[in-house]
Amino acid sequence: MANEMIILSGNSNRPLCEAIAAYLSVPLTKCQVRRFADMEVFVEIQENVRGEDAFIVQSTSFPTNDHLMELLIMTDALRRASARRITAVVPYFGYARQDRKPGPRTPISAKLVANLITRAGADRVLTVDLHAGQIQGFFDIPTDNLFSAPVIVRDIKERLDLSNVMVVSPDVGGVVRARALAKRIDAPLSIVDKRRERAGESEVMNIIGDVSGKSCILVDDIIDSGGTLCNAAEALLKNGAKEVYAYITHGVLSGGAVARVAASCLKELVVTDTIQATEAVRVAKNVRVISIAPLIGEAIGRTSKEESVSSLFD
Ligand code: R5P
Repeated sequence: MANEMIILSGNSNRPLCEAIAAYLSVPLTKCQVRRFADMEVFVEIQENVRGEDAFIVQSTSFPTNDHLMELLIMTDALRRASARRITAVVPYFGYARQDRKPGPRTPISAKLVANLITRAGADRVLTVDLHAGQIQGFFDIPTDNLFSAPVIVRDIKERLDLSNVMVVSPDVGGVVRARALAKRIDAPLSIVDKRRERAGESEVMNIIGDVSGKSCILVDDIIDSGGTLCNAAEALLKNGAKEVYAYITHGVLSGGAVARVAASCLKELVVTDTIQATEAVRVAKNVRVISIAPLIGEAIGRTSKEESVSSLFD
């Protein structure tokens, strides 16, 4: 007889998947995702999945293309094994930043990846803090975009004195996200406005809002090289901020980003575990990881029972 749900893990973030499965008290379905000698991906689901409501947990994080391919092939395997419904749980949706044509003759890769996931056989998608909400429209299947805000707000409330905080968007593009957080903790909002007045001149960081004496909280969806964040933190301190924290959903942290953060003036960078922490992240003194597993687990449980997911954020 079919279970309520089954959960399968790709190789991108097994600890997160295990934490989600533990939250739901569901054992992970046995599934091998391995490589041939030439690095082709091979998947073998080692249990009967006929008629099951299946959830594949796989972030398309570094190495992005390998993890994407694993997700597609796992989806194909489930479909051919007659799973009743397949949900691609993609906590970090790589390629999301390529959601428009930045110039002529460039692709919209986020749309292409959405097409690939759909054509592979996914019936639904569940993701977290999409780079732009409109990317949901790239999928012609139901797509739930969860917000990390409740997890982040809880952590902020536990650790910081809310009477003196200022939420800061590190760029003009992130204002909507920062404003939403500011509203949740009833804090004022400030914006870092980067400008290059003339070609060839270096960027000037103007701070919109008075940050003097404030504990600033920078919020963003992604930290990749760390440039945006570290530069914004520096500009805030120069403008009189008391200290600067950062809460970022997806710790992409490519190349030397962790070293950059460690050497920066950021008091602490907090990221969620949508992307598995590297050793560098684990040992960094001013980086902390908070788990989003209960939120994703709750959303999976509700999806399976056909209950409301949006009410998680009321
Ligand atoms: C950009 O639109 C994103 O929201 C992030 O601000 C950006 O991806 C951060 O990149 P980096 O850490 O390389 O500056």
